[in-house]
Amino acid sequence: MNVQWWQKEVIYQIYPRSFKDTNNDGVGDINGIIEKLPYLNSLGITMIWICPIFKSPMVDNGYDISDYKDINSEFGSLNDLETLLNKAKQYDIKIMLDLVVNHTSDEHEWFEAALNDPASPYRDYYIFKEGVNGAPPNNWRSIFGGSVWEKVVGEDMYYMHVFDKKQPDLNFENPKLREEIYHMINWWLRKGLAGFRIDSITFLKKDQDFESLTADGNDGLVTCKHKTRNRPGIELFLKELKQQTFEKFDCITVGEAPGVNYDELTDFIGEDGYFSMIFDFKYTDIDVESGSDWFKRTNWTTEEYKKLLFESQEAIQKVGWGANFIENHDQPRALSKLVKDPSYQNFVGGSAIAMLYFFLRGTPFIYQGQELGMTNFERQSIDQFNDISSIDNFHRSIEEGFTEEQAMEFVNLRSRDNTRTPLPWNDQKFGGFSKTKPWIDLIENYKTINVQIEENTSSSLLNFYRELIQLRNHSKYSQTLIYGNFTAHRETNENIISYFRNDQTTKLQIIVNLSNKHNDIDIKNTNYELILDNYGAVEKTENKIKLRPYEALIIEIKI
Ligand code: GLC
Ligand code: CA
Repeated sequence: MNVQWWQKEVIYQIYPRSFKDTNNDGVGDINGIIEKLPYLNSLGITMIWICPIFKSPMVDNGYDISDYKDINSEFGSLNDLETLLNKAKQYDIKIMLDLVVNHTSDEHEWFEAALNDPASPYRDYYIFKEGVNGAPPNNWRSIFGGSVWEKVVGEDMYYMHVFDKKQPDLNFENPKLREEIYHMINWWLRKGLAGFRIDSITFLKKDQDFESLTADGNDGLVTCKHKTRNRPGIELFLKELKQQTFEKFDCITVGEAPGVNYDELTDFIGEDGYFSMIFDFKYTDIDVESGSDWFKRTNWTTEEYKKLLFESQEAIQKVGWGANFIENHDQPRALSKLVKDPSYQNFVGGSAIAMLYFFLRGTPFIYQGQELGMTNFERQSIDQFNDISSIDNFHRSIEEGFTEEQAMEFVNLRSRDNTRTPLPWNDQKFGGFSKTKPWIDLIENYKTINVQIEENTSSSLLNFYRELIQLRNHSKYSQTLIYGNFTAHRETNENIISYFRNDQTTKLQIIVNLSNKHNDIDIKNTNYELILDNYGAVEKTENKIKLRPYEALIIEIKI
């Protein structure tokens, strides 16, 4: 693969509502990001991705946009964003925004016009269909629960929403709509953005037969994914989207593209692919059968995780470049999910999973708070949740026959609110995030897990992340860690995940014991040098390394 500028980036994901509040209304804002640029710079990251900050009624916290060209006032103004772009540049930090074009808010002026007048040209910007015998057009279930169809008051018509009913889907079959979207994207790219993370992009194409399928739940509905996600014909939309926008700029595009199989990767991320890289959820969603049905829990093992991880790396390496992450605003905290023994949900476990994913081939993403070792927030009752998906999953679990207690457990394990709690900057009231009670509660452990304490503790996870970034981007191993090949190491104990990164001159081995047991790993070439170990030093015999629980290390094998 030809070298691309975005391969060497380290991207930090900001959930703006919960990053830093500067005007003390309890909600994070753009000025908060500006204020914390020195922190981000000291971490060593090179780019930030900011979740949606556009005008929005915030039903899905910004993934419901009512004006693409304006900033939601709780975050600040367009001016503030320009200031952020300028200030970030002084630190050499690039900025990526979130592009949400599968749907808008129902409060977008296009949708309001569409709803108010059946003859409006804006009707065709969305997906309106007639009912069938007084019922919705088909039995598709939305990702956030209930039918994908919402009735238009006073008409026998319904509009479609793959997500919430306040997130009507745009009709990409309409060339006029596509034109408007391209226009908007180019308007943003001309402002000097590095690029976009692109939301739910595999949902753009819907099967035009709109046929019902056999129900898959007690609600009589069937997941809409079979008919709306990565469907034939999407290639035309994605190709055109790229040609009309991204291709004209040397920008980075990171697709949130669930439902893409490995044999289709060339289309998505190959040399002429639609995007620079896409997120792979196949190993991320190891704990559930599907990312949207949280009651379908799995009893996963490290061995299974390893298998999926290796498959993913190998498939991506064949054709392009990956986007590596263990957390985001839709996922639980990785420490709570991947480190099963609670007594290691601390520096040891946090540094093990950090080492595990950070040196995979691809661009690493760090989600705010991950670098501190933040954990899930356990809530007692459903009205403590803000996330619409949590509320839906609670009710669906009950409908599927689980008790309220079980439903709460599923939601606590998977809730998107787990990662959306305010970032604790210190141990003061409200964690120094705000002087007012934040829009969503802080996690109780903020007194011990916060930026200030970890800044002042040399052996903190925060400082470990700094070391990882230094190693990847500014050390004699950088070339290999960024551009080197990935080779899976399959001949290990089932609890150990190990892989090589190598090029002509250097061979590095990453070794992680993802378990609370002691495990040994054979080292064939004993002429090696330790680069970094989360226990400080290795315990070894002549041709083995004796790994302690959740021990993680990287060594250079002399060749
Ligand atoms: C993506 C976003 C998620 C949002 C959904 C609908 O999956 O990451 O937060 O709710 O799309 O826009
Ligand atoms: Ca604020």
